[in-house]
Amino acid sequence: MKVRKAVIPAAGFGTRFLPATKSQPKEMLPIVDTPVIQYVIKECVDSGISDILMVIGKSKRAIEEHFDRNFELESELAEKNKTDLLDQIRSISSMANIHFIWQKELNGLGDAVMYGRTFCGNEPFALLLGDTLLGTNDELGRPITRQLIEICERFESSVVALESVPMDKVERYGIGGGEEIEPGILRLDQLVEKPKRDEAPSNLAIAGRYVFTPEIFDYLAETKPGKNNEIQLTDAMARMLAERGMHGLRFDGKRYDIGNKLDFLKTNIEFALKRDDVGPGLAKFIKEIAKELGP
Ligand code: UTP
Repeated sequence: MKVRKAVIPAAGFGTRFLPATKSQPKEMLPIVDTPVIQYVIKECVDSGISDILMVIGKSKRAIEEHFDRNFELESELAEKNKTDLLDQIRSISSMANIHFIWQKELNGLGDAVMYGRTFCGNEPFALLLGDTLLGTNDELGRPITRQLIEICERFESSVVALESVPMDKVERYGIGGGEEIEPGILRLDQLVEKPKRDEAPSNLAIAGRYVFTPEIFDYLAETKPGKNNEIQLTDAMARMLAERGMHGLRFDGKRYDIGNKLDFLKTNIEFALKRDDVGPGLAKFIKEIAKELGP
């Protein structure tokens, strides 16, 4: 069982980020100077995957254009001898083999994933949400998707990344529970969407990265619209778990949910502070502004 393909849903309305998302996708919002979706593609590439299907919707053309060549811009940069920028711009279009498909109606994440069926055929695949970044503290520096692929190939089972969240926040997430069979690896026995605190099997939340065996498409095809009248991926996963089993990876790292305004701002600050070019200036500014406006 070898994982060679990835599906990235990036078609959602992004209503939590209006008005910015009225005519441009949230996946193109920059973290410092790089669109969120470029980090997601890089995670695929760094995980050994270069064949990627992106599910896009209305107002998402900017994503296609971002990963295409831009000859006018390239010749402008060449003329001005801006070779560093030129190399950077060119390398984006050769990062991976990216295919696009349009989700005709936005019927939910589960429906978006279904658009990957023909592309994946009978192969396992990675699923990465286009509006979520995951940082890892892995000592080998492996991205979370790489870690999931290794678990899928070892156990021949689907696997989902799980993030520890505070117990009073479990109602916001899909939560997984099960036995920890190795440090960080769980054999799941429960998946519950947005449970009440006292009904949650754990504090481990589904975190936007998955590797599925192709049977997930059969379960999705049988899944009726659920909450918000949308096809819920978690519903299909819960049935797959009951019949075929599934693993979870309690990853050591951090989730950045870009679709949420506060997280988006925090992510920008964190990523910027870690950079040599803007980090020192920003750190100084934050101290000054906190003194001026802070409590
Ligand atoms: P969200 O739950 O964040 O929904 O989707 P959303 O519509 O993008 O954002 P809000 O809640 O209105 O602000 C999670 C992921 O699933 C994709 C989104 O693009 C995002 O990456 N998605 C969601 C689709 O591709 N299609 C859908 O019909 C719904």
